[in-house]
Amino acid sequence: MTGTDETTAAPEDDRGTVRDDAVAALIMDRCDELASISSDPDRLERVHLSPEHAATNALVAHWMGEAGLSTWQDAAGNQCGRREGTTPGLPALLLGSHIDTVPDAGRYDGMLGVLLAIAVADRLRDEPLPFALEVVAFSEEEGTRFGNALLGSRALAGTWDPAWWDLHDKDGITLHDAFQDFGLDPARLPGAFRRPEQLIGYLEAHIEQAPWLEDAGRPLGIVSSIAGARRFALTMLGHAGHAGGTPYDRRRDALVGASELVVAIERISKETDTIGTVGRLRAFPGGVNVIPGRVEFSLDLRAEHDDTRDDCWQRIHDSAAEICARRGLQFEVTEIYRADAVRCGERLRRAIGAGIRSTGDADPMTLWSRAGHDGLAVSAVTDFAMLFIRCAGGVSHHPDESVTEPDVAVALDAFSAAVLDLARR
Ligand code: GLV
Ligand code: MN
Ligand code: MN
Repeated sequence: MTGTDETTAAPEDDRGTVRDDAVAALIMDRCDELASISSDPDRLERVHLSPEHAATNALVAHWMGEAGLSTWQDAAGNQCGRREGTTPGLPALLLGSHIDTVPDAGRYDGMLGVLLAIAVADRLRDEPLPFALEVVAFSEEEGTRFGNALLGSRALAGTWDPAWWDLHDKDGITLHDAFQDFGLDPARLPGAFRRPEQLIGYLEAHIEQAPWLEDAGRPLGIVSSIAGARRFALTMLGHAGHAGGTPYDRRRDALVGASELVVAIERISKETDTIGTVGRLRAFPGGVNVIPGRVEFSLDLRAEHDDTRDDCWQRIHDSAAEICARRGLQFEVTEIYRADAVRCGERLRRAIGAGIRSTGDADPMTLWSRAGHDGLAVSAVTDFAMLFIRCAGGVSHHPDESVTEPDVAVALDAFSAAVLDLARR
C-alpha cells in the first residue's frame, strides 16, 4: 500500500500464511487518525452531517484515491470509490462499513471495515476482476444524531422514507436542514439509490462486538445473519405527590412501576432467547422529595429470529399491563425503530468462508450478529455477507474497544481472498 516500506519481506504467521504486517500497521494508524476527528476533544463522537463527517469523508477519499479508486461523495453523504473490472461499467461488488460513531465511541466499530476495504482495493489494484469494485464509507449507521439508524445505507438501497426529513437532532435541526448545511440537496437524494442490476453484492468486515470469537480462540468468523431489532420509547404514567405525606396505599409511583418492568424485561428476555436493554430512563418531575409521576424509558430488543423477538415484546407488554393494573398506572408505547433479521447470501457467505480458510483455519466459526449493521439495509437491493474480527473482551461502543494488529493482518488476507474467490466463481 502507498506510504509503506515495500522492501521489507512479509513475515509468516504460525499457520505458515504470509501476512502483510506493514499494511495492518498502517490500518491501525489510520484508525487512530480517524479517532482524532471528533466533535469532543476528550472522547470520540462523530455524527452524521457534522463538520467531522465532512473532514472524515475528505480523508477517506484521499486514501481511496491512493488505492487507485476514483472517488465521489454521493447524494446521501456516503463517501464512495470505484475501480472498473475487465470492462468498464460492469456491476459492482461493494465493500465497506460506516464512519459515524456512538457517543464516547471506540475507534474500530465501522472505521476498521472501511479501512480494510480500501486496503483490499489497493492490494487487488492490478487484478483483473469480472466486476467493478467499490468501497463505501456509509455516512450514518448508529442513529446517534437523528435517532433513526442506517440512514446512509438505506439511501443507497433506495428504501428512504420521506418522513425522515422531519427527524430532528437534540438542537432541533431537521435532517432536511442538516443535509443543506452539509452542502447536500435533499431533492437530489434519489441520486444515491442503487438498482439491483448495478450490484453483485456487499461484503463488510467488522469487529465482532461480542466475546464468542475470543472465547473460541479464533481471530475471524463468518456471519450467518444479522439480528432483527425493535426499539421503543416507553412512558409509565402515575401521579406525582408529596414524598412524606402520601401513604403507600395511595401512591401511584411511576418509577417503582417502571423499575418492576425493567426487571421483568431482563427476565422475559432471558426466557425467550432475546436480548432486551433499557439504556435510558428519566423520572419526572425529578425532585428528591416528589413521587415520580412520569417515567420515560427506552427499550431495545434483538433476537436471531423475528418471531422470538416479537413473542418477547408481547410478553413484556402483558407484564406492563399487569404492573399498571396493580399500581394504578398507565403505559404508553411508541415504536421508534424496526429492522427485521436478515440472512447473509449463500454465495457471498461461502466466499467469506473460503477467505478465512485461505488463512489456515480449515473450519471457520459461524455466528449470528447481535449488533446491527449496514447489511440490514443493503439487503433490500443486493445480497450481503460479513467477516467478523475478534475484539478484546467483546467490548464495543466504548473507548476500550480494541483489536490486535496480527488479527487485522489476517482479516486483510481473508477479506482479499473472499473477493478473489467471488471473482473466480
Ligand atoms: C449498532 O451498532 C447497534 O447494533 O446498535
Ligand atoms: Mn456501533
Ligand atoms: Mn458498526
